[in-house]
Amino acid sequence: MSPIFNYPNKVKDKFLELFNQEPLFVRSPGRINLIGEHTDYNLGFVLPAAINKAIYLGIQKRKDQLIKIHSLDFNNDFQGDINELKSSDKLWPDYLLGVVQQIQKKHQIQQGFNIVFGGDIPPGAGLSSSAALECAMAFGLNHIFNLSYEKMDLVKLAQAAENEFVGVKCGIMDQFASMFGKNNQLMRLDCRSLDFAYVPFQADDIQIVLFDTRVKHSLASSAYNERREECEQGVKWIQEIHPEVKSLRDASEKMLLKYVKPKNQKIYERCNFIVSEIQRLQEACNDLENNDLQSFGKRMFETHAGLKDLYKVSCDELDLLVDLVKDNPNVLGARMMGGGFGGCTINLVKKEAVEDLIAQVSASYHAKTGSEMLIYLVKIEDGTSIIN
Ligand code: GLA
Repeated sequence: MSPIFNYPNKVKDKFLELFNQEPLFVRSPGRINLIGEHTDYNLGFVLPAAINKAIYLGIQKRKDQLIKIHSLDFNNDFQGDINELKSSDKLWPDYLLGVVQQIQKKHQIQQGFNIVFGGDIPPGAGLSSSAALECAMAFGLNHIFNLSYEKMDLVKLAQAAENEFVGVKCGIMDQFASMFGKNNQLMRLDCRSLDFAYVPFQADDIQIVLFDTRVKHSLASSAYNERREECEQGVKWIQEIHPEVKSLRDASEKMLLKYVKPKNQKIYERCNFIVSEIQRLQEACNDLENNDLQSFGKRMFETHAGLKDLYKVSCDELDLLVDLVKDNPNVLGARMMGGGFGGCTINLVKKEAVEDLIAQVSASYHAKTGSEMLIYLVKIEDGTSIIN
């Protein structure tokens, strides 16, 4: 919860003021990802965790068929009808309406609801504020209408909402992390089988620090979908000879060299990054098991290099933030995080050095770009839940 703005109380007060009802409260957090980037939609592995920044959503049934939503942060309202779901001209309601649409495919609910929501996940920072909102919505509707969905079904539903209604062909990582997060635990998710394991983050002397470039590229979602298509194209070329290869998870470097590189160098580089990133994550998990954060951190730098040079989803500001820490012995690892083209870098920093590092990096970032970056000190917390 933000120390300067008590969201649960704000949501509650606004809800009473607007609707004269007691809401059900859902908290749904943002996420970080330690390693394994752009691997989710290639059916590889990811290693995310839910964090101490969240969406707080109050929800309650209405007697009619209306949907009434108030966004605290945009200070803006939306009104619709449960039987006539269509994209709104402002983007924010779509994350919620998309979830309703997915639920309506099966349940044809005939009753509307009221919502007030707000939160402290900075939008566009790569911390998955949209997935958190979708998960909060799915969780809340499941509860007030007694729909009996399991948590993994809610995750899939929230992802489908983003894919189909918002139009971003995201993988499953963000919604999964928001829903299943656990205090002080990372999650190693196999995005093909959806099996996962909690992995303790045992590092009392390490602080996870995010440096937010505050850069948001408007082309990010179209470039994201393009990367996905490039990966699919690589798989198609391999499948001509190896039909058993269903995704880049099943592909080897040898196959890429033989069947993809001769056809298209750019697509080869994209696929090559993914195949090595899937491998790298598994080695990084071994590092964690051996409590070798030095080695883990090196792999984070390698991931950044691949995202920058091969997958080409970084940007100058992210590269600068990684360059500024890469020779600092107090920073074990750093890389851009999430979809890319802006947002944050994630850094593993020795606790005693955090303050100095922040001062140094902020000053250099400002000197080189003329802008101020933002800093978030991350705690790993529980996933989506009902709060009182
Ligand atoms: C975004 C998407 C995720 C994932 C990451 C990159 O956050 O929503 O599904 O693909 O980018 O790892």
